[in-house]
Amino acid sequence: MEHLLAALRAVAEATRLRLLVLCAHGELTVSELTQILGQSQPRVSRHLKLLCEAGLLDRFREGSWVFYRLSQSSSVGALARQLVAACSEADPTIALDLQRLGAIKRQRADLASAYFRENAAQWDRVRSLYVDEREVETALLDIIAAADPRDLLDIGTGTGRILEILAPRVERALGIDQSREMLAVARANLERNGLENGLVRLGDMYQLALPDASFDAVVIHQVLHYADRPAAAIAEAGRVLRPNGILVVVDFAPHSLEFLRSEHAHRRLGFADNEVAAWCGAAGLDPAPPRHLVGDPLTVVIWTAQRPSPAKPRFAEDLREQVAESLLERELR
Ligand SMILES: C[S@@+](CC[C@H](N)C(=O)[O-])C[C@H]1O[C@@H](n2cnc3c(N)ncnc32)[C@H](O)[C@@H]1O
Repeated sequence: MEHLLAALRAVAEATRLRLLVLCAHGELTVSELTQILGQSQPRVSRHLKLLCEAGLLDRFREGSWVFYRLSQSSSVGALARQLVAACSEADPTIALDLQRLGAIKRQRADLASAYFRENAAQWDRVRSLYVDEREVETALLDIIAAADPRDLLDIGTGTGRILEILAPRVERALGIDQSREMLAVARANLERNGLENGLVRLGDMYQLALPDASFDAVVIHQVLHYADRPAAAIAEAGRVLRPNGILVVVDFAPHSLEFLRSEHAHRRLGFADNEVAAWCGAAGLDPAPPRHLVGDPLTVVIWTAQRPSPAKPRFAEDLREQVAESLLERELR
């Protein structure tokens, strides 16, 4: 009961209630919230600190930026959502806050699409070298539909395209990327598509700030060719997979288009099936036969691998018995 009282005390103040409502509409930085509320940054930060301490808001850092959003995990998260629902959007103060928030989101989306426009020409040139993207996406969707995951991780999410197509299939979809600009585009795309179960975070595929065994599916789509340590990236992906969880890697078969290295920062000119299978095996995953989508000049390959479920006690017992029997047999011989 004490945590509920603490949460109610924390929110019993006009600015803090406004902050709660604003953070229910997206992930916002202190400077965005300061701009909307028209109050000083130290004051807004102090209010945010109280709301976080009460478990009503989550705070997370992305490089030098700090974001706030309505609590997803704490036991008072449900109370936070109920309080927000009880606040009428027709209230003049709340209506003005939301109007200012709308202007900030539009500004963000404009910046993001300008960045995307600058890079799109480069990406389109690479895309024209292989099979129609829709074919790859359909194959990916089939794999994910069959695996039916609850929690999905998209490593190197870029503009969030994979989250866009897979988030509607899962309960929770998280994209990580090392580029803040890409994440800005991804955030704008998720918002535009109303995908509230999709989140993106700054992160490094070699060192995911995520607990072991926390996802049912991990996708690495057109990212591995940038990796200087692909085996380490696959091992890290395997670490966060739950038993029976599935890893899907989509990349190119070996090729000789050197300009992808010199002009597009690719480190690896594709991967051989046995090489990817060995990395999956070393990560403790069972590789399945890959699927090749033959294109000219690039072939896209979809490699999948599954984390085996832990040996059942009965199986372990059988194994122990078999070993003991064979040792006994050897001794008797
Ligand atoms: C070609 S984009 C692919 C984006 C997305 N997976 C897709 O297919 O639409 C490659 C992405 O990998 C990201 N990336 C490269 N190295 C990374 C690393 N070490 N950790 C996280 N992301 C990385 C890049 O920032 C870029 O957004």
